[in-house]
Amino acid sequence: MLIILVVLAVVASLPWWLPGRVVALRVRVFARINGDEGIPVPGDLVGVDRFRELYSHPAAGGRSKGAALSDLFWYWLAPGPEMHQEHLEAGERYDAVARCTRDLLALPREEAEELTRRCAARALDGASGLVRLRDLMMPLWAEFAYEIVFAERCPREARDLIAANAEDVSASLKCTRLRHMRRRRRLTRYLLPRLSRVRRPLPPGLTPQEQAYYVHGAFFTTAVVQMSEAMTHLLLTLAEHPDAQERARTGDDRYLDHVIAETMRLHPLFGIAHRITTGDIPLDEHTTIPAGSVLCFNYPEFHRAGFTDPGTFDPGRFERPAKELNHIPFGVAANRPCPAWRLAPIAMRVAAREVLNRYVLDTSVTHTRALPSRGPCLLTPRDAPRRPARRRRLALAYLRVRDRWEDVWRGLAQLVLGTYMVWDARRQRLCERHFHL
Ligand code: HEM
Repeated sequence: MLIILVVLAVVASLPWWLPGRVVALRVRVFARINGDEGIPVPGDLVGVDRFRELYSHPAAGGRSKGAALSDLFWYWLAPGPEMHQEHLEAGERYDAVARCTRDLLALPREEAEELTRRCAARALDGASGLVRLRDLMMPLWAEFAYEIVFAERCPREARDLIAANAEDVSASLKCTRLRHMRRRRRLTRYLLPRLSRVRRPLPPGLTPQEQAYYVHGAFFTTAVVQMSEAMTHLLLTLAEHPDAQERARTGDDRYLDHVIAETMRLHPLFGIAHRITTGDIPLDEHTTIPAGSVLCFNYPEFHRAGFTDPGTFDPGRFERPAKELNHIPFGVAANRPCPAWRLAPIAMRVAAREVLNRYVLDTSVTHTRALPSRGPCLLTPRDAPRRPARRRRLALAYLRVRDRWEDVWRGLAQLVLGTYMVWDARRQRLCERHFHL
């Protein structure tokens, strides 16, 4: 009897101790397989005060070649082993690709707002009750990306394929599922015969297959994944802070912009961005970072530095100009920043307004930067009679318990699947093999 009671007590307490242990084990296993490559920034060598200076240094420009970390990024992100804007080295090919992305993203503001409004209205149609915010957001941004690329309404089959592919990429990045290469290939095949309909000339000098990989990678993977993740963080943050939610709903855009900036400070989409140095970088008369070093720029750490109570949500911090703060949600201007740095906040603001006009948001789940839970949330239509307080409390209690238990199996799945994928990426060496051909 005593043994049964002990077993029951251990099982019942799993959600309180197992996920943390599994995360710690996962970090150790990944470090073991990957080896400890790279110079952490900020770190012992370069502090927060010189973070931007180093990131902006002309010799901090290598993107892929020479870093084992690149094998991992290629494995998870590139639809083909070699053709994603984020992974290309500087040169003519990169310039042509980056120019095309800029052209496609250069929508006039009113057009971008109208496009977001239309896509949000379709995605939110019929949504209510318990949802996962990321699942709600993926089709919205799939349609948005499609219209940016093709300037025509996104057919349903395309929307479903793009959203499913982006979801696969997100889930495998978070190690909750393995990669789904068949779906990736299906999306590339879907794009190939449609290349002539892209709204702007595609980069010259690329084969049609490479052009399809490029559009796939920048617009149908990165754009959809990043916008969906950023919006999930934003809406979950608003659900966690009812006062901020009400103020954002009724207040002006300035306050909503501060909420967006503070959300991206607390939950930057990039954990680490790496660069390989293409020349020596002297730090002082005794210290030089040699060419070929891998610099690992740590966004969450930089975003915490120099703030009082850095873990607390406080949109008021952005009353000061963002330039004065340690805040780089879209990277640094001098070193390949996000080409959507202007468009993304405009679209996020409109999409957030569309959600806030329709729903009251509540949640009770854990909110982490990686967000493997896909953002569980309770959406109550504002025009429906308000749920009785008791039913709302019950729904939130259910969410909390479910989230805790999901953390248990998710943590174990992440350990097994993550270990496999990190090992598989090291084995395939997509990036290293590409540069040795
Ligand atoms: C809120 C949404 C987004 C955030 C927070 C974000 C963040 C970032 C960051 C931090 C980088 C630079 C990382 C580095 O220094 O290596 C980056 C690069 C990039 N982003 Fe975004 N992004 C977002 C949305 C988008 C969208 C909508 C697109 C659409 C095409 C996009 C396409 C890219 C590309 C292609 C790069 C690589 C740039 C290059 O190497 O030239 N991102 N993004």
